Amino acid sequence: MAVDCNCLHGSAPATVLLAAGRWLLPLVVPASCLVWMLLFFPSPPPEVVVGRERFQPSITLPGQRVSVDDTPPPPARGEMIGSSPPPPSRSPPPPPPPPPERKERPATVTDRCAGRYIYIHELPSRFNSDLLRDCRSLSEWTDMCRHIANAGMGPRLTTRTGGVFPATGWFDTNQFTLEVIFHGRMRQYGCLTADASHAAAVYVPYYAGLDVGRYLWGFSNGVRDGLSEDLVEWLRSSPAWAAHGGRDHFLVGGRIAWDFRREDGKGSQWGSRLLLLPEAMNMTALVIEASPWHGNDVGVPYPTYFHPWRAGDVAAWQRTVRRAQRPWLFAFAGGGRGKDDGGIRDRIIGQCARSRRCGLLRCGARGRRSNCYDPANVMGLLKSAAFCLQPRGDSYTRRSVFDAILAGCVPVFFHPGTAYAQYRWHLPADHSRYSVFIPEDGVRNGTARVEHVLRRFGAADVAAMREEVIRMIPSVVYRDPRAPAAAGRFRDAVDVAVDGVIERVRRIRQRLPPRDEDDGEHQWDAYFDKQ
Ligand SMILES: *[C@@H]1O[C@H](CO)[C@@H](O)[C@H](O)[C@H]1NC(C)=O
Ligand SMILES: *[C@@H]1O[C@H](CO)[C@@H](O)[C@H](O)[C@H]1NC(C)=O
Repeated sequence: MAVDCNCLHGSAPATVLLAAGRWLLPLVVPASCLVWMLLFFPSPPPEVVVGRERFQPSITLPGQRVSVDDTPPPPARGEMIGSSPPPPSRSPPPPPPPPPERKERPATVTDRCAGRYIYIHELPSRFNSDLLRDCRSLSEWTDMCRHIANAGMGPRLTTRTGGVFPATGWFDTNQFTLEVIFHGRMRQYGCLTADASHAAAVYVPYYAGLDVGRYLWGFSNGVRDGLSEDLVEWLRSSPAWAAHGGRDHFLVGGRIAWDFRREDGKGSQWGSRLLLLPEAMNMTALVIEASPWHGNDVGVPYPTYFHPWRAGDVAAWQRTVRRAQRPWLFAFAGGGRGKDDGGIRDRIIGQCARSRRCGLLRCGARGRRSNCYDPANVMGLLKSAAFCLQPRGDSYTRRSVFDAILAGCVPVFFHPGTAYAQYRWHLPADHSRYSVFIPEDGVRNGTARVEHVLRRFGAADVAAMREEVIRMIPSVVYRDPRAPAAAGRFRDAVDVAVDGVIERVRRIRQRLPPRDEDDGEHQWDAYFDKQ
């Protein structure tokens, strides 16, 4: 199934293997490899052996087949507590008769995983699954037990939502569960190795944001830092650390970088010191909002409500949003921030409220229709507008950016820190292709009227930008973490992030700067108060 996407690559071998007969794969591949290796490599080079061994995890074993297109997802892995029961499953059809044995041999030895192996640290459970077990303690206000269900995606959304969502792939996902989703996705990564010395990068499955999220309000610094300090001590004493001093390691923080960058002595009282620990400064941290002027954290998309299982689910949704009626020229979903953001949100809400062409979902106002926590409310609005306004709020970024992309709504940014300086692996470098930029200052001093700016785009320009946004959907969504690597391949946000990490680690190992000097790193500096 083709995904409508300009970023699809690396899936050809999987397609060929699938075409070769997925039922026979478990038998034919190991058998033919073995015969062929014995014939031609009486003592095979170690790399090849490793490659074939590592291939095993991605081969679907008989009895756990998930290859029939309509088979519902299997249940989450055992340790994900609170999961809803799986939908009833149809039994797979019997395997077809075996084809005649293949005679032809591959021309060359190619390890499709060469240079892409990931080693996952086996962390003690206190760093991840215990946090899920004690989910009551994760938030005072939000029922996180609900949201960590289904491998971190949260409860399924049904079609009883005014027809906003299709029957499968949609969940009430909380914006802070990325660590759980990412961990599940990495377990399905097609190129895992059990040998850290063969890995291109090392994943540390610590739920950093769930950890600190428990203690952000009203706890001592010692409590906030406890588990982070425990983690780096554990890592430092592990054999995998020694090879590169942890500079091939990466972790995921499902919160903004500021929640992990408490600078004691600078009057800052917020968050933990995780990303300032010397060990963490050697690692790469993937966070939903990076700090523009620190090197070792990189922005990755917020999780959205959509977690497609296979490429066909993405393609179907892309068709839906391409056809969607968009009665609003522009829309805004969010709450005001008073003076905290220099008044930008209040200005934007005011402009939207006064325009007949703006759809407004004012969070925090009275009534069910103002409920911003209702996914159908939010997605229903974004799907019915051509442009979606994305002013910053408490921090530079907002999840709504990714909800808007998902809805095929062209985002309008007011600060480069909201996307352009953040998600450089996931969003196109040429931001004018998919978004509109209206600098905050003009809105604040009243010289920029959003509606005037947007009305200047002709229908063809808007259509071209929307098409670009729709093509970005696969690479900003997180695939259902329970889907095996071979199920309807498309490159999702995790695939893009892992490639980014591998390239970054490769540069670091070669003593190059972690990113290209001239990739526009500093083009937005004027918009940030440098520390
Ligand atoms: C960070 O990496 C450098 C270079 O590999 C290494 O010398 C140093 O010990 C590492 N830091 C820690 C805390 O391990
Ligand atoms: C308003 O802000 C814009 C953008 O920074 C600036 O070019 C313009 O001179 C400002 N106008 C006034 C009246 O302050």
